[in-house]
Amino acid sequence: MDLKQISRNILKKRSIDDLIQTSKKSELKKTLNVFDLIVIGIGAVVGTGIFAIIGAAITGNAESAGAGHAIVISMVLAAIACVVPALCYSEIASMIPVAGSAYTYTYATMGEFMAWMVGWILMLEYAIGNITVASAWSGYFMQFLKGFKHCLPDFIVNIPIWLRYDYKAIYTMCDKYGWDIHDKIPFLFDKIPVAVNMPAVLIVLVLTLLLIKGVKESTRVASIMVGVNLFMILSFVIIGSHYVKPENWHPFLPVDPVSGILMGTFTIFFAYIGFDAISTAAEETEKPQRDLPVAIIGTLIICTILYVAVALVLTGIVPIHQIDGMAPIAHAMKFVGKDWFAGLISVGALCALTTVLLVYQLGTTRILYAISRDKFLPRSWRMIHKKFRTPHVMTWISGIVVIVCGLFMDLKISADLCNYGTFTSFVIICIAVLILRKTNPDTNRPFKVPFSPYLPIIGIAICLVLIFFSLNTLKTSSNYFIIWLAVGFLIYALYGYRQKRLDEKRRGIS
Ligand code: ALA
Repeated sequence: MDLKQISRNILKKRSIDDLIQTSKKSELKKTLNVFDLIVIGIGAVVGTGIFAIIGAAITGNAESAGAGHAIVISMVLAAIACVVPALCYSEIASMIPVAGSAYTYTYATMGEFMAWMVGWILMLEYAIGNITVASAWSGYFMQFLKGFKHCLPDFIVNIPIWLRYDYKAIYTMCDKYGWDIHDKIPFLFDKIPVAVNMPAVLIVLVLTLLLIKGVKESTRVASIMVGVNLFMILSFVIIGSHYVKPENWHPFLPVDPVSGILMGTFTIFFAYIGFDAISTAAEETEKPQRDLPVAIIGTLIICTILYVAVALVLTGIVPIHQIDGMAPIAHAMKFVGKDWFAGLISVGALCALTTVLLVYQLGTTRILYAISRDKFLPRSWRMIHKKFRTPHVMTWISGIVVIVCGLFMDLKISADLCNYGTFTSFVIICIAVLILRKTNPDTNRPFKVPFSPYLPIIGIAICLVLIFFSLNTLKTSSNYFIIWLAVGFLIYALYGYRQKRLDEKRRGIS
C-alpha cells in the first residue's frame, strides 16, 4: 500500500469552479426565493428551544445552575456565538451555491477525507437532532389531543404508553415511579419489549411523503406553519406584556452570575441551531448569491429579537421559582388565567416543531445527495423522482433512519449529539473561510465576513470552548460522539475511499 498515494487521495479537493459547474448542471428545481429561505430558516430555528428548553435555561436543574432573569444575557451571548458562523456561512454559501452545506465547503478546502467526516458529523445535527424534535412533537401532540378529550374517543386520547414512548423512556419512568415494566409494555416471546413512539413515527412518515412531493410544496406548508407559530409568539409577547410586573425582574442576576449565565447560554444555544439549514437548499435557490446571506443573517436577527422579547415577558410575568420547566410559555398564560390562550400556544408549538422536523429532513437529504454525487454513497440513492424531481430514495432513507434510530436512541443523548455536530460544523465553516481567503483570493464573493481573519478566529475559539466544555461535562454523550466518529471513519476506509478510486479509474483520473 502506497502511503504517499493514500495521503494524496484523502487530501484531494474539488475546485470551486468544478463545484459551481456541478451546481449549474443540478437536476434539482430552482424555485426558492429569499422569502422561502427565511421561512426555511425560521422554520428550522424556532422550535423546541423557545417553546420548551427556555424553562430549563432559566431555572437550571439538579446538575447545573440556571440563568434566571439574566436569560436575556444568555440569549444575546448564544446569538453572538452564532453570528460569526452565520457570517461565514453567508460568505461561502454566496460564493459556492452548491447543495451539501459544510460538507461541500470542506471538500473545496480540506480534501475528501475531512469532507466525508464533516458530512457524517452533519448527520448528527440533522438526522439525529430530529429524533429529539420528533419526540418533543409527540409530547405536545398528546397534550393537544387531551384538549379534545370530550369529543375524541378514549383510545385516541389515552393511547397506551407503549405506543407513545420509546423503550428507554418507559424504562426511566418505571424506575422513577416504581412501576413494574411488565405491566406497562408487552414483551414478544417474553423477551423482546415492544414500545414505539407512534405519533413520532407517523409525523416523520407524513413529512417524508411531503418532501418527496416537492420542496416548493413543502416550504408552502412550512410557511403557513411558520406564520402560525410566529403569530402565537407575537401574541404571547403582546398579551403577556400587559401582565408584566417589573418587580419580578429583580434581582436580575442569578446567585452565581458567571456559571448561571454560561450554563444558560449553553442550554439555550439549542434554540438557535438551524439557520445553517438555509445553505443546504442553495441549489434550489433562484438567486443564491444575493438571497443566501440575506436569509441567513435575517433569520438570526429575527429570532434573536423574538427570543429576547419572549424571555423578558416570561420572566416579567412568572416569578422565577414558578416558571414551568416543560412548557413555560403556555404555563405563563395559565398563570395569568388565560387558559384558552395556553391551548392556542400548544398549537403554535406543534407548528414550530413540525417545521423544524421538515427542514431538518430536507437538510439531511440534501447533504446525503451531495455526498452520494461525490461517489461516497451508492449511486442508486440519489435517483431523482421522474415526476416530482426530488431525490426520493434519499428522502426515504433519511426518514427511515430517524424512525429506526428513534426506537433505540436516548433522547437526551440525541440532543447532545446534535449540539456536538453543530459546534463542529461551525468550527469547520470558520476555518474554511480562512482557507478560501488564502487559496482563492480573487473568486467573486458577493458577501464578505468583515474583520477577517479576526472574526473567524474568534468564532473558532468560542465554538471550541463550547465543544470542550460539553465533552468534559457530558460523559455519556461524548463517548457516543467518539463512537460516531469511529464508525464514520470505518465507512470511509472500507467503502467510500474505494468507491472514489474506482470512479476515478472509470473516468481516467489518477
Ligand atoms: N433550534 C431548533 C429548536 O429549537 C433545533 O427546536
